[in-house]
Amino acid sequence: MTIDRKHLKNLREREEKRFVAEHPRSAELYRRAQGSLLGGVPMNWMNKWAGAFPVFVKSAKGAHFTCADGRDYVDLCLGDTGAMTGHSPDVVMEAVAQRIREGITLMLPTEDAIFVGEDLKNRFGLPYWQFTLTATDANRFSIRIAREITQRPKILVFHYCYHGTVDESFAGLHDGTVGPRRGNIGPPLNPAETTRVVEFNDLEALEAALQHHDVACILAEPAMTNVGIILPEAGYWKAARELARRYGALLIADETHTICAGPAGCTAEWKLEPDMVVFGKAIGSGIPGAAYGCSEEVAQRIAARIQLEDCDVGGIGGTLAGNALSLAAMRATLQHVLTAKNFQRMIPLAVRFNEGVLGPIRSHRLPWSVQRLGCRGEYMFSQTPPRNGGESAVAADFELERFLHLYVLNRGVLLTPFHNMALMCPETTERDIDQHSRAFAEALDELV
Ligand SMILES: Cc1ncc(COP(=O)(O)O)c(C=O)c1O
Repeated sequence: MTIDRKHLKNLREREEKRFVAEHPRSAELYRRAQGSLLGGVPMNWMNKWAGAFPVFVKSAKGAHFTCADGRDYVDLCLGDTGAMTGHSPDVVMEAVAQRIREGITLMLPTEDAIFVGEDLKNRFGLPYWQFTLTATDANRFSIRIAREITQRPKILVFHYCYHGTVDESFAGLHDGTVGPRRGNIGPPLNPAETTRVVEFNDLEALEAALQHHDVACILAEPAMTNVGIILPEAGYWKAARELARRYGALLIADETHTICAGPAGCTAEWKLEPDMVVFGKAIGSGIPGAAYGCSEEVAQRIAARIQLEDCDVGGIGGTLAGNALSLAAMRATLQHVLTAKNFQRMIPLAVRFNEGVLGPIRSHRLPWSVQRLGCRGEYMFSQTPPRNGGESAVAADFELERFLHLYVLNRGVLLTPFHNMALMCPETTERDIDQHSRAFAEALDELV
């Protein structure tokens, strides 16, 4: 079964017109924004949504938001994981409101920091934690630490990874050679100088890269989530972990998205034993904040190399990092929202999402598949789920993706603008999922 591209284009144009007609207020705001915001948006990615302009938001609560035109949406994007807790959970907002009245940032610790450190220690099994404002920064600082304590210059990432706007990670493979990833804006230097890149699920390539003995750390999502969900094959992480140890590279697990696997992400689910863990986005229910933790051994190696007098000029830190507000939000989020009980509710909803799309895919005999990690579901334009970033990128279909996203958006469901991923929060309901399933089935009925 192949897609008739002309038909797809016609349908897309029809949906585009409907979107514009139904969002006059957002259209007006977007026009006005052109006068003061670069590209008409506060952040460049916001132009990537499937419609002619982004929907401007009036309010959001739980799994839903209302746009400036008064329409209600089921939010399966959830701020690309920043709101995996659901929008503005009451219990977190109460803690945040109290903290706001009592001081936001001081360059001094609050007791909340200890609570959060203890919680993260119990979850991930790593004893020591630090805080940043973004997962990007948590990754950057982890990389710096790895370089410093190993005295090695390079990092290793997987082809088509995403770890935030970390310069070293914007590298890709081009015919087997490392170079800037497509779209890399103004790279400071050729990332081949800082980075080794291998395909996920390829142990031979990983070992060959580590054999240069210049890799300070492997920065990895335990399952890739930013080029579609790609799961590790059986035994992959056990062997990869062993290789990292053998060749003296640290293993940094970036759990920022893979926290969807459970309360302590894949680290706990798959017993990964990383040297460092990074966890951002949802950790404070969307109040900016992220954390990175390290093992006892890493902590000792840091202590041996970093002097107190230089600690503020070492390239690790941030004036607002570890602020009282972020930590109050993290404490309430960890204690009340990212709980095992909530994951037990969220995970079956992702199963339901996948079943909801798989039915119409099968009945139309489309060569597509689904994949899932915990409470994150996804459909893919490939017969079987891809094994690595290269395979997944080949299966991508931007035109088709945009059509499907716009179609469901016009029927009240928001998916992330990057591939076909749906995330559940504690307040998502079966009804919300079924709304997507119906719209998706309708789209395929019209398309095929
Ligand atoms: C796995 C992973 N790590 C880190 C980041 C960076 O997060 P932030 O943009 O909040 O710095 C992202 C963002 O999408 C991510 O997917």
